[in-house]
Amino acid sequence: MAPVNIEDHRLRARRRLPRIFFDYIDGGAFEEETMRANRADFSRYALRQTVLVEPQPQDLSTHYLGLRHPLPFMLGPVGFLGLYAGQGEAKAVRAAHAAHIPFCLSTFSIASLADLRAITPGPLHFQLYVLEDRALCEEFIAQAEAAKVETLFVTVDTAITGIRERDLHNGFRSLTRVTPSLLARFALKPHWLYDVARHGVPSVRAVEQRAEFGRGALEQAANLSRRIDKTLSWADIAWLRERWAGRLVIKGILAPGDAVRARDLGCDGIVISNHGGRQLDGAPSTIAALPAIRAAVGPEFCLMLDGGIRRGADIVKALALGADGVMLGRAYAYGLAGGGEAGVADVIAILARELSISLTLMGIASIDALKEAGRDAVFPRA
Ligand SMILES: Cc1cc2nc3c(=O)[nH]c(=O)nc-3n(C[C@H](O)[C@H](O)[C@H](O)COP(=O)(O)O)c2cc1C
Repeated sequence: MAPVNIEDHRLRARRRLPRIFFDYIDGGAFEEETMRANRADFSRYALRQTVLVEPQPQDLSTHYLGLRHPLPFMLGPVGFLGLYAGQGEAKAVRAAHAAHIPFCLSTFSIASLADLRAITPGPLHFQLYVLEDRALCEEFIAQAEAAKVETLFVTVDTAITGIRERDLHNGFRSLTRVTPSLLARFALKPHWLYDVARHGVPSVRAVEQRAEFGRGALEQAANLSRRIDKTLSWADIAWLRERWAGRLVIKGILAPGDAVRARDLGCDGIVISNHGGRQLDGAPSTIAALPAIRAAVGPEFCLMLDGGIRRGADIVKALALGADGVMLGRAYAYGLAGGGEAGVADVIAILARELSISLTLMGIASIDALKEAGRDAVFPRA
């Protein structure tokens, strides 16, 4: 049966992937309370239905990250796409560019920026984890410059990695190489195994030449994680602002004071994010954090939001409450794992269709009109 919604894509991904990878994508930190709140809190808002409005041509395009885009959502950084599908990063970027929406490559990727630049002339964005080794960090920035990256998303909510208990149960955390028992588990998913393994042993291309990171994606990722700078501070953001001439966006902010500080340091925007509930369990949902952040930073500063976006109506609510655009995480990772490039394209199409239907039934002709209506378009559920 063809997937009709994002949950169907999730179930398809669960069938296709080894459990160790599905749980890595699907899970959150500790009690997974924040992860669930990201979804549940969208239901705290209702959409205002307006009927008998004279029909006008619909326009889903809008402005975020300094440009006009045909849809108000983009593909955010998700690590290890190339382990969920063979050449997963390339498949995701192709689907994004076919829909003319931005794609952001994670630091933890099988493909490098140069690989992606070779397959697409379209806009590229890069997510940077600042590492203790500033020389390597500089190298990543230089790679981004060489690939003509437009926006650098600096992730700041991962000083240490939140404990995701599903990963502990599955032995994911301690995994650095493919053992015979792991291979036996992989062999239970032959379509996935063939798809990923026929491109050779996956490795993190950005550090492939550096022997100290070891060999193979799992070992390299473990070594990279260990080297994320635990002492990152606003002084480092100021350094990055000086160092990087392009657009700079801070990803992983939930407090109005932090958002104001990012703006005052000259950043071009932030992503309101709790890392999909994978880091600080107990943190607020992103949709709950959004209104106070918008009030604090004023109308001009670019606010992106991610976390729990699974429906077109979620996007409507985020935009009405003050986001300029939203970013997908698991939604497209499920699409990729279950259906490759076509799966990602289908996730984008499903969300665009749902968004279009919601707007029509709300009597709103365009995303810009929705943003203008703002809090008049949604209201707290009684
Ligand atoms: C499997 C997985 C890997 C991720 N890897 C990264 C990453 O490398 N860098 C990053 O900034 N965020 C990463 N994230 C967080 C996403 O960018 C995003 O904040 C989150 O997925 C949004 O929540 P959602 O998945 O509920 O939409 C990852 C998320 C998932 C699910």
